[in-house]
Order: sequence, then C-alpha cells, then structure tokens
Amino acid sequence: MSIIGVKGTHDIYNSEACEFSYVENVMKRIAEIFAFTEVRPPVLEHSELFVRSVGESSDVVRKEMYTFLDKGDRSLTLRPEFTAGIARLIVQNKITNLQELPIKMYYCGPVFRYERPQLGRYRQFNQFGVECIGHTNPLADVDTISLAYTILQSLCLDNVTIKINTLGDEESRNNYREALKEYFSKHIDKMCPDCKQRLELNPLRILDCKVPEDQVIVKDAPKMSDYLTPAAKDKFAYVLSCLEAMAIPYEVDDTLVRGLDYYSDTVFEFHYKSSKGNDYGAIGAGGHYDKLIKEVGGPDVPGVGFSFGVERIVSVLKDDELIPQDIYNALDFYVMPMGAKYQNTGIAVANVIRMVGYSVDMCLDDVKLGSMFKRAEKKNAKFAIIIGENEVDNNRVILKNLKTQEQLEVKLENLRQTVDELFEEHECCCGDDCDCDCDCDDDCDCENEGHHCHCHCHDKKEN
Ligand code: HAM
Repeated sequence: MSIIGVKGTHDIYNSEACEFSYVENVMKRIAEIFAFTEVRPPVLEHSELFVRSVGESSDVVRKEMYTFLDKGDRSLTLRPEFTAGIARLIVQNKITNLQELPIKMYYCGPVFRYERPQLGRYRQFNQFGVECIGHTNPLADVDTISLAYTILQSLCLDNVTIKINTLGDEESRNNYREALKEYFSKHIDKMCPDCKQRLELNPLRILDCKVPEDQVIVKDAPKMSDYLTPAAKDKFAYVLSCLEAMAIPYEVDDTLVRGLDYYSDTVFEFHYKSSKGNDYGAIGAGGHYDKLIKEVGGPDVPGVGFSFGVERIVSVLKDDELIPQDIYNALDFYVMPMGAKYQNTGIAVANVIRMVGYSVDMCLDDVKLGSMFKRAEKKNAKFAIIIGENEVDNNRVILKNLKTQEQLEVKLENLRQTVDELFEEHECCCGDDCDCDCDCDDDCDCENEGHHCHCHCHDKKEN
C-alpha cells in the first residue's frame, strides 16, 4: 500500500510553487521597502511559550497545537504562529536594549494547527508576516496596516475589506471582561461546554464561538466600544484619522476581538471574497500587543504586526485570475540528440549555454525526434537544439525557435554569441519596441512618457 501525505497538509510543486514564490517575493520586497529585515525563527519552541503568550484560553493553545514530548521529556510544540517566537527570539538575543529599538522584522514559513481541514484551512500552512517592536507611537499601527495594504494592492487585490477595532488598554479590557462575565453568566447554562470554560478563563473568547445557538446569545452581548477609557478612545480615533489621511479604506467592526490573547488596542483583519464567491475567511490579520514582550521575560515595550495566510492569498489570486502569466518557469532551451551516440555532444552543448546563464534541459532517452518535440512543448521550451550525425560531422547544431518554427544552423564556435543575440531583443512594457540598446538602466524612448524600459534580455532586470 502506498503512503499518502498527512491529512491537512498539501504538496506545493510545479506551477503552484511558482505562484507561492511570486506572492512571497512581492511581500518580501515591499516589507524591505518599509525597512523590515528578514528573520528565520525555529519551527520548534517550548510549549510554554505559546501557553504564556497566545494564551491558555485561546483555541490555538487549547485544541490546535502539535505538542509532543521529545526524547528528553521536554514538551515541544510546532509553531502555530510566528509572533510568540519572534518575541522570544528578541528577548533571548537581548535585541531589546533601547538603542536597538524599534526592531522591524519580517518572516515567511510554515506553521501548524490541528484544525478541521476545509476550504482555505490546512493543518500545515504558510504565513508571511511582520512584527514592529518598541514603538510607543500609535503611528506604528498605521504604518503596519499601510504595509499590509500596499502588499495587497501590489498583488492587485483591490477589493479587500480591512476590518478594524480596538481592544483598548488594560483598564478598558478589565471593565469589558467584567461586563461580559455578568452578561454571559445569565446565559451560560444554555451555552456549549467550550464557552463554559471560556467564561472562567477569558470571557472575551466567547465572542469567537462558532456554535450557531451561542452566536445568537453573543449578538446581544455588551460592546467593547462602551467600555473604552477616554485615552483608549482617543488613540483609536487617531489611528483611524491617520488611515483616512492615507486613503486606506477600513470598516470599524466592534465585534472583532481576535482569537489570540496577546492583543491590546488596535486589531484588524483583511477579508476578500473572490469573484467566484469563494470565501476563504480572513486572508490576513494582526494587531497591537502591549504586554507580550514582558510576558516572555523582556522589557515593557509594545509591538504591532500582522500575518497573511499565503495559501489563502494564492487561492484568491487564482480565483480572480490575478496571477501574472510570466511568473511560470519557462525553459530557454531543450537539447535533442538524435541518437544515443550524440548525447555526449548534447550535454557539452547544454553546459556551454548554461554557463552563459540560460536554462537548458536535455533529452536523455534515445527516442524519436517527434517525441522529443512533444517533451520540449510540455516543458514550455522556447528553443530546441537538434544534434544529429550531419551536425556532429560539421561542428554545428540546429537551433529552432519553437514559437515561430524558424530554424538556423549555428557553428559550435558561434553558439554563445548566437544564443545571446536571441535574447537581446527589447520590448517596452507599453507594447512598443524600445530603442534602448540592451542596457537596462536606460529610459525607454517610446512616446508614452513615464514608461520605463522593460528589459527582456536574459538579465531580466527592470528599472
Ligand atoms: P491568525 O489570525 O491566527 O494571526 O493567522 C493569520 C492568518 O493565517 C489568517 O488570517 C489566515 O489567513 C491564515 N490562517 C490561519 N489559520 C489557517 C489555516 N488553518 N489554514 C490556512 N491559513 C490559515 C496570527 O497568526 C498572528 N500571529 C498574526 C499577528 C502577527 N498578530 C500580530 N502579529
């Protein structure tokens, strides 16, 4: 019997791998423009880290963690999210002394949650996110939301809805918790066993309950906005006014509380329904945290961050046909030796071209020419290089353009130069021919002002 992959995991390969790389590269590039630097925390952490930070009352800690004892009897957990690990990393590495604050980091990689797999929900999935730690100015919240919004815009996800709310300061949340406790105590007998526990641990978590009967009770629960201190209200109003000034659209949703315990003040989620009507849930989410760094043993400094679910973003981009077609790997050359005895010439030719920087694959099976052309087509090759008896005797190869079907004979000694010439044609991004001479730093001479040359030479640089 063959072995299949673990439930809730998925294999990413071929064109899908190109789509993931495309999305992650856009995210990384924009995070770097916003002055974030890369961080790669470990996948394994001590379980206690998540219990202390994400919170004992959260579904993630109560039900969804992949936790096990290692051979030394230590309780370890596969990270269910990045934020707690980043907090641990900066405290442990003492990056928190004041000269080095704020710390701005971005990350990308797999996370693990034991959830019921369904559309857009996996047990191993990928997050891209950022954390900005050490800014006390609420503008850091605005800047972080602006980064997320810029990423979504760069991916052409224009129809995104940003839901935003505030959980206020500690005093606001304490007041609110009391009000919730009082309200839910009257209804708790009719509520699910999880909510009974949540009432004891953190009544705020009841607001996330997905049980339909409980949601009816949740609908009439007190609202956070009625329990905010004047200072928390002012802070939130300031954040909203800055978003407006930056033309970042938002919807205040006073039921938004987020499922992780470390949040305070601003919290937000990014929602997007694809034009096919598929609802993948939130494609990203985040918020401000005042006490997380202190909770894991560091100084009393706040932070703010968000994470995108990469699988969900790839899915909505595919649904709405927003993935650029030029991201898929195309092979430059496919070498086709017409018989086993020409294969050694074939591999030498392949390597000459590879050394110039073009991608080359070669047929290693002794099959008919027609079948080699089919393989070249399957690999999306731009050119075929055909080598037979005549070519070897005359130190030549046949070079065939698989799009136009034009072919020419090339002397081996001229191969490098001919190959370079094939790729030196330029095309302006506006569709006109560009007059620049293979120097990607030149401006385009086409009449559309403001256009830059979009170079298609093998450097694939853009300016
Ligand atoms: P989160 O809301 O738990 O926040 O997850 C962030 C995103 O990960 C979600 O919006 C969703 O797109 C994606 N996601 C969550 N669960 C799954 C799943 N089972 N399958 C596929 N995608 C999923 C956090 O993780 C916080 N650490 C965000 C943050 C960063 N807050 C501050 N800094």
